[in-house]
Amino acid sequence: KSLTLCADAEQASVYAAHKIADIIKDRQNAGKQAVLGLATGITPISIYKELVRLHKNESLSFQNVITFNLDEYYPICPNNDQSYTYFMHNYLFGQIDIAPQNIHIPHTDCSLEEVDDYCKDYEAKIRSYGGLDLQLLGIGRNGHIGFNEPGSRFDSITRLVELHELTRRDAETSFGSLDNVPRQAISVGIDTICQAKKILLVALGARKSEIIHKALNTSISEDLPASFLQNFPQVEYVLDSDAAALIE
Ligand code: F6R
Repeated sequence: KSLTLCADAEQASVYAAHKIADIIKDRQNAGKQAVLGLATGITPISIYKELVRLHKNESLSFQNVITFNLDEYYPICPNNDQSYTYFMHNYLFGQIDIAPQNIHIPHTDCSLEEVDDYCKDYEAKIRSYGGLDLQLLGIGRNGHIGFNEPGSRFDSITRLVELHELTRRDAETSFGSLDNVPRQAISVGIDTICQAKKILLVALGARKSEIIHKALNTSISEDLPASFLQNFPQVEYVLDSDAAALIE
């Protein structure tokens, strides 16, 4: 497996941002669009900060970039500051030159009757662009990737999912109380993720050391969705020294 060990979170974030920038520039040089799968949460914040810096100071352009976010709570209003739509505009899209029509984030204001068709369309749209050139991933403390919680199938695609108790508790502080944390989400699937040409899984900090150790070493199982990545050679794990602490 491809492991990139960085001294600290700052170095890991800059490394990941530069990997993303390289793909954008390579595709630009080839006169093509770069299709990126993006994540939210604490982990990518510094990565997006570095991408914004590259845009402002080193003229990195996002005009050829198409994005698909991994997931969004269901239901949530896009204006709610806990929504991933708000997060992405705040940390990245509002500060770069990406065309608004190139941004895709699951919209979860559709009704329960509409949601299946909505998810199928989201999946089809990713595939209509020829799939993802790069998928950026964090990892949940229960091993989820996107909101593919334990029990998710290897062949799952974009769908409505139930959030795991630990995932909801990890979101409690930002929502103010556990009751305010949505119970469901729309998430792209394990299959959607694993079809990406390149996957960067970034884990930072001691709170991720145990799950990183398990994700890399346990046998592949639905109980730990990130373990499915062991099968795929295009995955690069970018870890800071705290997250890598338990790796033999
Ligand atoms: C978010 C996502 C989640 C997070 C994971 C880690 O879009 O897909 O899988 O990557 O929950 O979150 P943080 O980075 O907050 O530890």
